[in-house]
Amino acid sequence: MKSAGQQGLQEPATCKKHVDKARPLSERLRDKSAHIAVLGLGYAGLPMAIELGRAGFVVTGLDINDERVRLVNEGRSPVSDVSDADVANLIKTSQLSAVNKFDVLAEADCALICVPTPLAADHSPDLRFIEAAAESIAAHLHPDMLIVLQSTCAPGTTRRVLVPMLEASSKLRAGEDFFVAFAPERIDPGNRQYTVVNTPKLIGGVTPQCSELASLLFTSIVEHLVIVSSPEVAEMSKLVENTFRFINISFVNEMALLCDRMGISIWEVIEAASTKPFAFLPHHPGPGVGGHCIPVVPFYLEAAAHEYGMAARLIEAASSINEKMPQFVVAKLERLLAKRGKRLGEARVLLLGIAYKQNVNDIRESPALRVLELLTKREAHVAYYDPHVPSATCDGMVFRSLTSRDLNQEHYDCAVLLTPHSDVDYCSVARQVDLILDTRNYLTRMGGTEVVQL
Ligand SMILES: NC(=O)c1ccc[n+]([C@@H]2O[C@H](COP(=O)([O-])OP(=O)(O)OC[C@H]3O[C@@H](n4cnc5c(N)ncnc54)[C@H](O)[C@@H]3O)[C@@H](O)[C@H]2O)c1
Repeated sequence: MKSAGQQGLQEPATCKKHVDKARPLSERLRDKSAHIAVLGLGYAGLPMAIELGRAGFVVTGLDINDERVRLVNEGRSPVSDVSDADVANLIKTSQLSAVNKFDVLAEADCALICVPTPLAADHSPDLRFIEAAAESIAAHLHPDMLIVLQSTCAPGTTRRVLVPMLEASSKLRAGEDFFVAFAPERIDPGNRQYTVVNTPKLIGGVTPQCSELASLLFTSIVEHLVIVSSPEVAEMSKLVENTFRFINISFVNEMALLCDRMGISIWEVIEAASTKPFAFLPHHPGPGVGGHCIPVVPFYLEAAAHEYGMAARLIEAASSINEKMPQFVVAKLERLLAKRGKRLGEARVLLLGIAYKQNVNDIRESPALRVLELLTKREAHVAYYDPHVPSATCDGMVFRSLTSRDLNQEHYDCAVLLTPHSDVDYCSVARQVDLILDTRNYLTRMGGTEVVQL
């Protein structure tokens, strides 16, 4: 990976529209002649870049990952939510281009920061990528520029980390000479019902004028904007949304462990509880939580609580329950095999779906990798099938997905459905296995194959 400021190979985008920089930014946002730079062409940044390009803005995507830059310029999408055609159409009309060279920021009217916000090894927030992005922008900061941070972060990051870094190398002041807002990305990869366009956009500007300018930008692509009183409210809302889900999933996961002991179906229990027309919101158990958001974001909230002298006890408890789920999956599989007189260590096990969620190619924090690791340590003979994930590294070993042809030629003692994808024919998979442990309650009857729910 290149450092943010390093020069790369790509040429900056050529902005085809005639842009009169003397006109105020608000006017250029209204008539879409403003030039937009999106830093980070990943699951959050690329869909945003595509929508802005479609709306009529000239968009330059900046990324330190040369491979992503190359793919986008070739009209190919590196993320599962955006099709190659979506990218290719905008590349063809020069509405979108990608670069790894940051001096294009000198020409940009708006910079959207969509870089990763992972956790450090000790589970504390790792702001390296935001800081690198801020440094790149600061080097090219100019009057009237709008900077919107979209990466998930703790309350105060926009005002206390981003703004001082931007102001450090010039006399320009946020809210007066240039504008800064936090507008969290709320995208749910794989969700066809809610997209960038119809998911309401939260906007918290450093000043009311910052909010107004950010609103002018987003109003061209998002149906409903929600302006909140400060960046801190927007930052905190994003953490609360994701942590709400993390904690609720841990609750049903714990109930799944209990129901398993009681011999009751957790799935039937949730279905029954969901008939209450108010005050119950169904969540579903599974092999754990994955992705770049749900397992990560609660620790940003926990760190914020610590900063204010509070312990976020529910987050700790939820995390320890969710982390137990892969072990539970393996233990349940072992029990099911034992009933058939088979030891786990001699079983041929097929894992179905290792992406962290349905219909995506993202394996970050996927609990399926932990199941794979545990089974390998127990010396089971493990293979996986995931048409969205051709290969994966787990515990230092590289695994490659079976092809659908391989599947029809091999027989397995059991399969574990970890992440169902809608383009997989599970009936034909079932013909090759005697038993399926379904951790998502996705399958119904599968001919002669026994299907057991988590
Ligand atoms: N993935 C999701 O479902 C999702 C949903 C909502 C919010 N978010 C948030 O969006 C942010 C980005 O997540 P993502 O999933 O898109 O990550 P990602 O890894 O898919 O994409 C981030 C991209 O940023 C690039 N990058 C890193 N540092 C850079 C820099 N200094 N300048 C330019 N590019 C840089 C990386 O190379 C990468 O291509 C995170 O804060 C995440 O919490 C993600």
